[in-house]
Amino acid sequence: MSLVPVPRVAVIVVAAGSGTRLAAGAPKAFVGIDDSSILRHCLRGVFAAPSAQVVVVAPSDRVGDALTEVRAAAGDRVDLASVVAGGVTRQQSVAAGLGAVWADVEIVLVHDAARALTPPAVFDRVVDAVTGGADAVVPVVPVVDTLKRLDSDRVVEAVDRTPLAAAQTPQGFRRSVLDGAYAAVVDEHTDDAALVQASGAAVVTVPGDDRAFKITTPADLVRARALIDAGAAEADRNVRDDASETAAAPAGAVVGPAASAPSMPRVGVGTDVHAFAAGDDQAGDLRLAGLAWPGERALRGHSDGDAVAHAIVDAVLAAAGLGDIGTHFGTDRPEYAGADGTVFLRRVRELVVDAGFAVGNVSVQVQANRPRFAARRAEAEAVLSLALGAPVTVTATTTDGLGFTGAGEGVSATAVALVFPV
Ligand code: CTP
Ligand code: MG
Repeated sequence: MSLVPVPRVAVIVVAAGSGTRLAAGAPKAFVGIDDSSILRHCLRGVFAAPSAQVVVVAPSDRVGDALTEVRAAAGDRVDLASVVAGGVTRQQSVAAGLGAVWADVEIVLVHDAARALTPPAVFDRVVDAVTGGADAVVPVVPVVDTLKRLDSDRVVEAVDRTPLAAAQTPQGFRRSVLDGAYAAVVDEHTDDAALVQASGAAVVTVPGDDRAFKITTPADLVRARALIDAGAAEADRNVRDDASETAAAPAGAVVGPAASAPSMPRVGVGTDVHAFAAGDDQAGDLRLAGLAWPGERALRGHSDGDAVAHAIVDAVLAAAGLGDIGTHFGTDRPEYAGADGTVFLRRVRELVVDAGFAVGNVSVQVQANRPRFAARRAEAEAVLSLALGAPVTVTATTTDGLGFTGAGEGVSATAVALVFPV
């Protein structure tokens, strides 16, 4: 029997979305921000708030993975947590979570896993407002952009933003009010506050927090990483301030994670190796550095085996902090089977632009006995540069007969990329 008293608050963490706009090759909640997933970061915030039942709503094929995340984040509150499978829409997922809330719970918070960096203080404010008598509470932040009402692409009028606010989560409800609203709902609503309001309840606001933004696009993921880096740098500074025996850093020195602040250019490195195909696999010509090489042995690979293009992909993604080739083009993506390396480069260019960066240049070196690059170097550079939208230079070398490249077993390529914020 658990010694933990049954809490009067439950938090439903909806994490069953697919993350279409993030397009990171996995359901959004399971995409890494640093070495922890979006869901893990979110749950750390949830478990740092006052004790509550926690119901995580996961994609039906990720319930086990979600349990692993829960166990890692819950500490001694693991008995208060459970995972259920979600639905096709967010509303269906919340309904599934609501079905798992314990009978004695009086206040239910619904929270997007995608708002992974929400500070625990927001949870406190929402719970306090419901405890104080509100039926429904939504944390809000001011709208900062100037707003326009449009008719197609024509501006009809400016919209006064004074009475407007952007809604965040966790949204909190008297349990009976939320249960009643979900039992009666027919239409789809964009959030739970709207659903409850449609049932006739009054919704009040409390201040939200900029850090409770929803990770939606690759650029949001970059922002989340920067905030975590900045938090780590702050903690690092506090530790150094406290440690009087620690020598002060020299003036102007960049210390610790702050070195990766997004206002700076960033570099990334990528390597790829492919073996030459043997026997029956030899059908087709070699494709390397975005070029076809008639008469040369083909390389093996899920796509066209273009080690040069793949090394560039890893270097650019690493520089922008967007994961690596497996994150975006893994073997679980059948649409990339047999794909031309330049297809990857064009997609990487889009991802990097979405994340708020431009590629400065890329330098890639090929190690191989064959093919001979000298006569086609300019052609390769032109094709790769066009696909990436930035200068790509190609150098090639043999390895004096040493290693697998020297033995003619395969090709190795190493790329260095520079990206800068725009
Ligand atoms: N969500 C859910 N079940 C769904 C759809 C969404 O639990 N069927 C959750 C998401 O996991 C997310 C939150 O609702 O934590 C907000 O949704 P959104 O940011 O739109 O996430 P996704 O639907 O995953 O992203 P996208 O719309 O880009 O596919
Ligand atoms: Mg969605």
